[in-house]
Amino acid sequence: MARFFILEDVSYCYPGSEKTGVCQVNLELEPGTFIAVLGANGSGKSTLARLCCGLLKPTTGRVLVEGYSTANDDELKYIYQQVGMVFQHPDNQFVASTVEREIAFGVENRTRSSREIRRIVDEELARFGLTALKTAQPHSLSGGEKRLLSLADIWALKPKLVLVDEPLAMLDPGTKHRITRLIQDLKTHGQSMIWFTHGLAEVMTADQVLVMVDGRVVWRGRPTALLTMAEEARAWGISLPPATEVAAELGIDRSVIANENELVAALWK
Ligand SMILES: Nc1ncnc2c1ncn2[C@@H]1O[C@H](COP(=O)(O)OP(=O)(O)OP(=O)(O)O)[C@@H](O)[C@H]1O
Ligand SMILES: [Mg+2]
Repeated sequence: MARFFILEDVSYCYPGSEKTGVCQVNLELEPGTFIAVLGANGSGKSTLARLCCGLLKPTTGRVLVEGYSTANDDELKYIYQQVGMVFQHPDNQFVASTVEREIAFGVENRTRSSREIRRIVDEELARFGLTALKTAQPHSLSGGEKRLLSLADIWALKPKLVLVDEPLAMLDPGTKHRITRLIQDLKTHGQSMIWFTHGLAEVMTADQVLVMVDGRVVWRGRPTALLTMAEEARAWGISLPPATEVAAELGIDRSVIANENELVAALWK
């Protein structure tokens, strides 16, 4: 299948900074793929996310979306339509005066039918539990509500590649569960996703995991392979699922325990 998204030896240095933000990252994505990028604080996850959507241009290397390069300003408009980003800190992202206008904002560039815009906005308000807040100001929302609004903004546009930067931060357990399922549904619609986080538990269904340390990819493979790599995970500053750690304490084979249900089943055996 065609690779529609390519990172080719991508590096980025922040102006004036001696530390490399991202160093020689390579990745090729087919449609409908779920990639997880794991790393400690400051390892370069958000920098890589900004490079993937064209907000930052590589210092060296290339980011290609269907052959279009983020280095070319006249190709960026097309790239912005294909790649949607849910920011780690959504505050700076909002442009409209109400929640419903915020969701409608991007949709208005896609369709002129006001009935269709209304339908999409109402659908996303309901999907993300924001209907009662539709006339609220985006900046007045709680941290978790802002996160939901930034997800709704991107869902309304249905980009081919969705980047989610720590999407579950600030969400309560019920909402976390709902959002995890929604994000995983993307794959069934043929959309691809890159999920940036420091916790493996969130991304056990990923097709491939990349681990970043100091801007470099130091390991890549299947998420289940990481379950037995406790020492490396500690050194890399990433967290393994709590159930895996408990299983190890109890002397249960940690390589098959990735969540509470699997732990309970193993205990009943
Ligand atoms: N605007 C900036 N100017 C200079 N350096 C920056 C800037 N933004 C980030 N950095 C540096 O680049 C490195 C990577 O930062 P980045 O935000 O990508 O990390 P991260 O993995 O997303 O961390 P976190 O888990 O805390 O969100 C850090 O050392 C950070 O201090
Ligand atoms: Mg970050």
